[in-house]
Amino acid sequence: MKMLIINGPNLNLLGRREPGIYGNNTMESCLSALRERYPDVEVEYFQSNSEGDIITRLHDAGFGGEYRGIVLNAGAYTHTSLAIADAIAAIETPVIEVHISNVHAREAVRHKSLISPVCRGVIAGFGLASYRLGVEALMD
Ligand code: DQA
Repeated sequence: MKMLIINGPNLNLLGRREPGIYGNNTMESCLSALRERYPDVEVEYFQSNSEGDIITRLHDAGFGGEYRGIVLNAGAYTHTSLAIADAIAAIETPVIEVHISNVHAREAVRHKSLISPVCRGVIAGFGLASYRLGVEALMD
């Protein structure tokens, strides 16, 4: 079973970026733990700071049944990008929206997600475990 994790802008800095909010762990350690825990799940990873690259990756993974699902942390594009929301609506592969922080406990601008209505479900606030929970949701 193959799954794709996509991280959006600034998430390449995990481990160094605002550790009080996002923690000290890197995405690499999160991915290693996930692959160790679920050896039968092929976890692919893609990160980009560019909206268009994220959309293209969604298109490429979105048809043909290659992936069981996509776990997407769109970062700040969550709150701004109608284009990413349209891409999620356009593809067939289910997308789970995830956030490391509890966006609803933060500034009001982070309470609104343009992508939630077109995602299969939303997971927020569990630190890097949010990615694992997203993968587990797709396994079920
Ligand atoms: C985030 C929350 C967003 O509001 C923020 O812009 C991010 C990360 C999270 O994972 O908590 O970049 O998606």
